[in-house]
Amino acid sequence: MSCILIQNGLLIDTEWKRRADILVRGSKIVRIAPHINPDSIPDNVTVVHADGLLVLPGIIDAHTHYHLVSRGTVTADSFKEGSKAASYGGVTTVIDFADDDKKSLVSSFKSRADAMGADMSIDFAIHQGVYAFREGLYDELKAVRDAGCRAIKLFTTYRDAGYLIEKREELKQIFSMCADLGLMVCVHCEDDEFLASIEASYKGDYRAADHPVLRPAHAEALAIEKVGELALETGAQLYIVHLSSKEGLEAVRRLRDRGLDLVVETTPHYLFLNRKKLEGSDASLYIMTPPLRDEEDNEALQEALCNGEIQVVATDHCSFTRAQKLESNDVRTIYPGIPGSEEMLPLIHNLVANGALLTLNEMVNVLSTGPAKYFGLYPQKGALREGSDADIVVFNPDVSWTLSNDNIHSECGYTAYDGMPVIGHVVMTYLRGRLIMGGDMYLGIPGDGRFIKVR
Ligand code: URP
Ligand code: ZN
Ligand code: ZN
Repeated sequence: MSCILIQNGLLIDTEWKRRADILVRGSKIVRIAPHINPDSIPDNVTVVHADGLLVLPGIIDAHTHYHLVSRGTVTADSFKEGSKAASYGGVTTVIDFADDDKKSLVSSFKSRADAMGADMSIDFAIHQGVYAFREGLYDELKAVRDAGCRAIKLFTTYRDAGYLIEKREELKQIFSMCADLGLMVCVHCEDDEFLASIEASYKGDYRAADHPVLRPAHAEALAIEKVGELALETGAQLYIVHLSSKEGLEAVRRLRDRGLDLVVETTPHYLFLNRKKLEGSDASLYIMTPPLRDEEDNEALQEALCNGEIQVVATDHCSFTRAQKLESNDVRTIYPGIPGSEEMLPLIHNLVANGALLTLNEMVNVLSTGPAKYFGLYPQKGALREGSDADIVVFNPDVSWTLSNDNIHSECGYTAYDGMPVIGHVVMTYLRGRLIMGGDMYLGIPGDGRFIKVR
C-alpha cells in the first residue's frame, strides 16, 4: 500500500501543536512522531516537505446547500462544483441538508445521500429538514437516525417556501421526539410572526438596503428565545445555525444563564461583512437570510468567537450566479444565499494572524474538531490522530493575498469578499490519503466522496 510522509510541518490539533512528521498509509493516519525515516517504511513512500507550513485536520463545513433546488431555480454549485470550491479551501467534509418532501423523511434522506454520493468528490454527512408535523413523525425520525443522520433542521420562517412549522405545540412535540431519539435540533432563527408585523407597516420599496430593516436582529433574538425555551422544556440538544447579530447573541447568553447547554454556529459573512455591502448597485449579490447587519454585530460576533461563546464556524454556502442574483433588486425575490466554503479558512485564519484572541488550536476547533464532535464524525474526522481518516490540509500561514472574483473556484462567478486581504493559503488538501488539491490544481474525483454515517 502506498504511503505519504509529511515531514516537519507544525501539526495543529485542538489540544496540542507540535512539529512532527505524519505518516499516512492508504486512507488513514498511521503514525505521528518527531522524525520518521522514510527508509524505515517498507512501502512506496511519497515525501512531502512541510517546513514552515501548518498541517491541519481537514476542514468541515458543517452548513452547506450544494445543489439546492428552491424558489423555482437551482444553485450554481451543484455537488461537483461545491466539492471543487471546497477543496481549494481545505474543506474535506461538508454537512448538507435533505429537504423534507413531507411524505417520507427516510426516502428524502436516502435520495439526497445517493445524489450526493454520485457526484461529491469530498466526504459528506446530511442533516434532515423537517417542514411539517404529521402522524408517524416519530417513526420517520427514528428511521433517518438509523440511516445515519445526527440532526434535524427546523425553520422559524420561510412560510412561503413551505418550511415553517408554526404551532408551538407541534414544535414542542418534535423537540421531545428528538430528545428521546438523541437527534440534535438545528434551527434557522428568525421569528416569522414578528417579520410579518414589520412588513405590515413597511412603506419602503424593498430594496436591498432595507433587508436588515425588514428582517431585524430582534427577530433572530425572539426566535432564539422561543426555541431555547422549547429546549429547556424538553431536554433536546439545540444548535443555532448562522447566528448573525449581537442581539441574538444576548439571547443566547440569557439562555445559558438559565442553564441551557446549546451550540452556536456563525458564518464568515456575519463576522466580516455588514450592511454597507447593501448600498451599491450590486447589492443583490450580498442578500442572504438573516441579512447582513452592522459593524457592531461583526465586532460582537468576533469577540464571542474568540472567547468561546460560539462553537462552530460554517458557511451556509448557497451560491447563485451573478446573473441569478442580479435578476431582481427586490428583496422579496432575490435568491437568498452566497458562496463561502473556499473562503472560510483564510478568513478565519485572519483572526489568528491579525492578533485577535483566536489561537490556532481554537481555529481548528471551530472549523473541524468542534463540528466533528457535535455531529458524530469524531475521531474519524476532525482530528490529527493515528487511526483517523487522512483528511489533511497543508497550509501556508504567511502568505498575504487578496480574495477576488478572479481567484475563487465557485461556479457562481463571484466572491462576497472580493478585494478583502487575507493571510494564509491552502497549499494541499488530502482526502483519505489522496491529494485532491495541490499546486493550485484540482484533482478531486466526482463520486469519490463518501457518505459518513454518523455515530
Ligand atoms: O439565505 C440563505 N441563508 N440561504 C440558504 C438557506 C438558509 O436559510 O440557510
Ligand atoms: Zn438558514
Ligand atoms: Zn442554510
